[in-house]
Amino acid sequence: MYEHDVLVVGAGGAGLRAAIAAHEAGADTAIVSKLHPVRSHTGAAEGGINAALQEGDDWELHAYDTMKGSDYLADAPAVETLAQDAPEDTMRLEHWGMPFSREEDGRVSQRPFGGLSYPRTTYAGAETGHHLLHTMYEQVVKRGIQVYDEWYVMNLATTDEADPNDRQCEGIVAYDVQTGKVEGFKANQGVILATGGPGQAFDHTTNAVSCTGDGHAMAYRAGAPLEDMEFIQFHPTSLPSTGVLISEGVRGEGGILYNNDGERFMFEYGYANNSGELASRDVVARAELDEVAEGRGVEDEYVHLDMRHLGEDRILDRLENILHLAEDFEGVDGLVEPMPVKPGQHYAMGGIEVDENGQTCIDGLYAAGECACVSVHGGNRLGGNALPELIVFGKRAGAHAAGDDLGEPEIRTGYGDDVEDDDTELPVAPGASGLDSADAVADGGVAAETGALEQAVERERARVDRLMDKDSGVQHAEIRAKLQNAMTDYVNVFRNEEGIEKALEIIRECREEYQDVYVDDPSTTFNTDLQQTIETRNLIDVAETIALGALVRNEFRGAHWRQENQVRDDENWLKHTLVSWDDGEPSIFYRPVILEGEEKTYEPKVRSY
Ligand code: FUM
Repeated sequence: MYEHDVLVVGAGGAGLRAAIAAHEAGADTAIVSKLHPVRSHTGAAEGGINAALQEGDDWELHAYDTMKGSDYLADAPAVETLAQDAPEDTMRLEHWGMPFSREEDGRVSQRPFGGLSYPRTTYAGAETGHHLLHTMYEQVVKRGIQVYDEWYVMNLATTDEADPNDRQCEGIVAYDVQTGKVEGFKANQGVILATGGPGQAFDHTTNAVSCTGDGHAMAYRAGAPLEDMEFIQFHPTSLPSTGVLISEGVRGEGGILYNNDGERFMFEYGYANNSGELASRDVVARAELDEVAEGRGVEDEYVHLDMRHLGEDRILDRLENILHLAEDFEGVDGLVEPMPVKPGQHYAMGGIEVDENGQTCIDGLYAAGECACVSVHGGNRLGGNALPELIVFGKRAGAHAAGDDLGEPEIRTGYGDDVEDDDTELPVAPGASGLDSADAVADGGVAAETGALEQAVERERARVDRLMDKDSGVQHAEIRAKLQNAMTDYVNVFRNEEGIEKALEIIRECREEYQDVYVDDPSTTFNTDLQQTIETRNLIDVAETIALGALVRNEFRGAHWRQENQVRDDENWLKHTLVSWDDGEPSIFYRPVILEGEEKTYEPKVRSY
């Protein structure tokens, strides 16, 4: 058994920032991560960090753009905190040595990004996340913060009171990937989940194979609701064959999108008459797919992104990485030909419901970064707003878990008297019924009595033994591929009721097939087969919450388009969708969005670009 004050699960941008803040607040802090920190998916973030740094810009404009970009589904207190804290937290990175791109006069460069009214995206070439990760990891090493890397966290250890709001998180259970040992980690003050996104629930994604929604699934099984899971961002410029990201920075620098007829379709067909290629991502992604549907796609599949006119010097200075990605993954030389691009799953706007301090409704359980929903992105995240979220809310979660007083949050969490229940009839019984209890969603670390951590360790050891002892059955890869295809086929950019119901049916089949899952690789060291088998269960749980949210939200808002109701319905849907694990099945409820900021209310307006 290991013991620390604050345990941070995940070592990407949010996890590293949380750990630094907790350490600075005086807590004995450790990071537990399935990857070495600099291999975390934050390293794939290309574009930049939105922060109002320059004269002529201010945090209020950043907050306004973010609320509009969210299609009025973000909570204003969180958005204002993001916009207010981003400048100082970005400059702190600069002081820690982050090699930002600079202007001739030495000032940190900023470029335009989609949906921004000011060029406020601070960047380091097209490798901003990579440099951010290395800069913060240096600070972790410098402070001597303990890192348990290549330890895969399998579950949380929480108490089992009937109401999740009364539960307490005592620690985590993790699998040592190098030795095959399963051990408990006790957290005296708090566990912070910073496990990133669930992109592997989809077939075509910009996300790394490590993005398996582990934190989402663990928190959900422990009783913390998942919020606004239906809002999935499809980035307009991923490479068709692999999903590898081509940064919005290309369009920020002046890159142009063309259809197969050589038309600049964003203007030609009126998709975004003012902002064109720099409309927000949901708008551009839909436009690209419309072009393909109208028969104007290249090879009936994608469109072209052209940056040749920017010139070699500028491309090499600001976008060199893009040249390598296009060449390595698509065999295209971006200096002499346009790059093929199409929408790919990129980001989850929703996540584990938290307040401005990163706290979930479970005492001692926090979340930050993409796995959390605070909510600053609402229905659609603006490009360049993920990295400031990591540093601002990672810092706050770490400080709060370590005992700093950050003031009373305005955002409420958990089931309470401010929520509204949902009574949608579902096409299939979702959740765990019929599953073997030990592999069922219901066993999510909720122990019968005190000693939650010891019980959770025993349960997870038994789970590993059972998976390893079984010598035939279904392999996780088969189930995972079926799940990913269903999500990409039916819960993509364009959605309708019939398709989402079909996805839920397939997810249900995946659950049933998972009953018979087995691990082929018998080894106890670096058994990726075992780890991915456990991750696949998480993906099933998370995919189900995405599809459930998509089914019940019968309106078109931000990235969530519904064929049956192609309008934003503010009368009925200015509210967050919450899915929580309740008595053996998911239950759905709603909480009103907070549009009141410190000094103004963000009245929903028509969102045009
Ligand atoms: O396009 C990009 O560089 C991605 C940025 C982001 O998702 O914020």
